[in-house]
Amino acid sequence: MARQIDIRTSPLAVAATGALVIYADEGAPPAGQGAAAWAATGRDFATVAAAAGFSGKQGQVLDLPAPDGLPARRLLVLGAGKPDANAPLSAWTDRGGSLAGKLGALNIDTAAVLLDGAEATPAAVAEIAAGLRLRHYRFDRYKAKKAGENGGETLSVTLHVADPARTDAAIADRMAVVEGALLARDLIHEPPNVLGTEEFAARAGELAAHGIVVETLGRAELAALGMNALLGVAQGSARPPRLVVMHWRGGAADAPPLAFIGKGVVFDTGGISIKPAANMEDMKGDMGGAAAVTGLMLALARRRAKVNAVGLIGLVENMPSGTAMRPGDIIRAASGTTIEIVNTDAEGRLVLADALWYAREKLNPALMIDLATLTGAIGVALGAEHAGLFSNDDELARKLTAAGLATGEKLWRMPLGSSYDRLIESRFADIKNSGGRPAGAITAAQFLLRFAGTTPWAHLDIAGVALASPQTETNTSWSSGFGVALLDRFVRDNYER
Ligand code: BES
Ligand code: MN
Ligand code: ZN
Repeated sequence: MARQIDIRTSPLAVAATGALVIYADEGAPPAGQGAAAWAATGRDFATVAAAAGFSGKQGQVLDLPAPDGLPARRLLVLGAGKPDANAPLSAWTDRGGSLAGKLGALNIDTAAVLLDGAEATPAAVAEIAAGLRLRHYRFDRYKAKKAGENGGETLSVTLHVADPARTDAAIADRMAVVEGALLARDLIHEPPNVLGTEEFAARAGELAAHGIVVETLGRAELAALGMNALLGVAQGSARPPRLVVMHWRGGAADAPPLAFIGKGVVFDTGGISIKPAANMEDMKGDMGGAAAVTGLMLALARRRAKVNAVGLIGLVENMPSGTAMRPGDIIRAASGTTIEIVNTDAEGRLVLADALWYAREKLNPALMIDLATLTGAIGVALGAEHAGLFSNDDELARKLTAAGLATGEKLWRMPLGSSYDRLIESRFADIKNSGGRPAGAITAAQFLLRFAGTTPWAHLDIAGVALASPQTETNTSWSSGFGVALLDRFVRDNYER
């Protein structure tokens, strides 16, 4: 059975539970209902805290057997850090994640959390719930022995709040986005023998149950459209290409949609320009952009977002074989631009070139945002702290950067400029698909710009953040599902009224 987490809200009367959880600000005793719970210990808080080395810093925990009279076996005091009115909402998400981690470490699978302070608004409590769920996630469906971290197989948490009805609404809305991020994580984690192009397309097709209209194009349709760049990448694989187009219509009938485009290379061997063996298994995650787009569409649909959005994912496998593209091949993309293939491992930009063309040509989008695990170079430049942001539109770049700061999925803007074009000039075709090592992430983006044209467009190179993600309070799995929370926030803050 899959891991289960049950989160509910309740008014402030606590029923019997494994752990009663209260918070204390840095340097202060628990307040409100927390103070009343502490009083049952009959001890001076400052004295106990000092003896235990507990100062209330975020992440600290004071764990006591619950005194008689409290309906719990343990009393946990969690450090809430210094009160900070300017802290981003993600500080609350981290608090929820941290709580799931503590409960797991202490082997506690039922908890009641007292959240009666004025700062525990419905939005803040919803972030705690999101953090609990994100941290509790583990991809262990292929393991017989399930590790007991971040809560047991089943974790049940009751959040005791002043206004359960409003908090429930906020949690439901926020959990829609968590569902999207967890779908992205699941898709990224699935092994490449299990999740091929057709299997991924089938998973995307399941979004129809949430009101998304899903169209799937196969080889013949893609050929009729002249999408030879995408087809070229797919031609070495036994797995057929798929372009999946997911429509969510929650906005005005005549409003042009926001288009989100994902690189979906279900496995990237490099093709004939084959990659070294070390860590090649990570290339199962080369569909991380497509996973984020699919997760975003689920999030928008589940929370009934008042916006028109289209998700497009180009699904291919990059394999070396007798039918594979060769270095030196020249192909004609759907836009008519000819591309000299100088490195078959620079395949993601080929998939995106045709997907961007399709979005512009068929969907008349208000803007386009693509997500792709596109270059190793972006990880060299920015590490796992920021994804690379490239855009032909300053206002779009600003909105995305702000959404990154609010969600903790941070972006750093990188340059575009015609001076980089000479690096991808081809002797034989209009353009070549790789400019080599210098400015590797930038020349990839500069290549995409040719296909984005004048439509407001942003490219997020997530190769450094989406795979082998940093271990944080809200993610201890291989992939964090980067991009879903970010783009949900971007849509929510700018395009829904
Ligand atoms: N999928 C890779 C990029 C990648 C690398 C993603 C590491 C995640 C982790 C991409 O298709 C690729 O191979 N890029 C090449 C481009 C080069 C041939 C111009 C790269 O980064 O080396
Ligand atoms: Mn590649
Ligand atoms: Zn790739």
